[in-house]
Amino acid sequence: MKRIKSGIPGLDRVMKGGFPERSVVLVSGEPGTGKTLFGLQYIYSGANNGEPGVYLSFEQESEELTEAIKPLGMDFPKLEKQNKARILRAKNVRDVTEVFEILGEQVKAIKAKRLVIDSLSSIEIFASTFKSMVKDLPPMTLERKFTFLPPSTAVIRRLLYHIIDYLKSLNVTTLLISEAQNNKYSRYGVAEFLSDGIIRLTTHKALDTRKLEIIKMRNTEHTLKPQTIQITKKGLMLV
Ligand SMILES: Nc1ncnc2c1ncn2[C@@H]1O[C@H](COP(=O)(O)OP(=O)(O)O)[C@@H](O)[C@H]1O
Ligand SMILES: [Mg+2]
Repeated sequence: MKRIKSGIPGLDRVMKGGFPERSVVLVSGEPGTGKTLFGLQYIYSGANNGEPGVYLSFEQESEELTEAIKPLGMDFPKLEKQNKARILRAKNVRDVTEVFEILGEQVKAIKAKRLVIDSLSSIEIFASTFKSMVKDLPPMTLERKFTFLPPSTAVIRRLLYHIIDYLKSLNVTTLLISEAQNNKYSRYGVAEFLSDGIIRLTTHKALDTRKLEIIKMRNTEHTLKPQTIQITKKGLMLV
């Protein structure tokens, strides 16, 4: 089985060489735990090693992301000029199918092998406003008629099946960045069951340390021991 290297120094060693190819992995954590940095580093290291990548952000402008990461030695504009990476910003999304169409085009354009979606939570929260996700559902699951109410579990599950099937068809290895909430790894507590892997990032304020845990990774052995991580001038790494 082919492995896709994480780009995080020390991490591949504790999961037998990297993510199993074509995995869809949740990178879950509270704000400020390093999810975005993790994702950018994954794309950057791949792009420099013959595996182009696309980073899709719902939260920050592309320039904002590329500027913020420059001090850590990552020159994304250069990679973008060489067609090795793309940083995209999704805005005013009416339906998930629209975003994924554009995403698919970009993946094909640069023959991307890696993908990051920052974040899955931003897609999930609008699930019940996506026509493609609520059409044909039996009435029982549509009792929440008002789309500004939280989506039902059925709608979230349908959305996630759609997303994961689509990602598998693109032949990429994907990180889905996810907001951890109330002891769940994702907003609605469903994505953790459907994804191939879960990486949890945490901060421990009293000890001034950060940790990374591999909670789940299908098709591979991996450590269960929480790993201490550091953010240095070279980025995120295991200590
Ligand atoms: N360029 C950087 N230089 C130094 N520290 C950084 C840099 N980028 C991020 N960090 C540190 O990493 C933390 C997490 O950043 P980020 O990846 O944006 O978190 P998240 O996406 O989980 O909210 C920041 O709060 C900061 O402490
Ligand atoms: Mg972030």
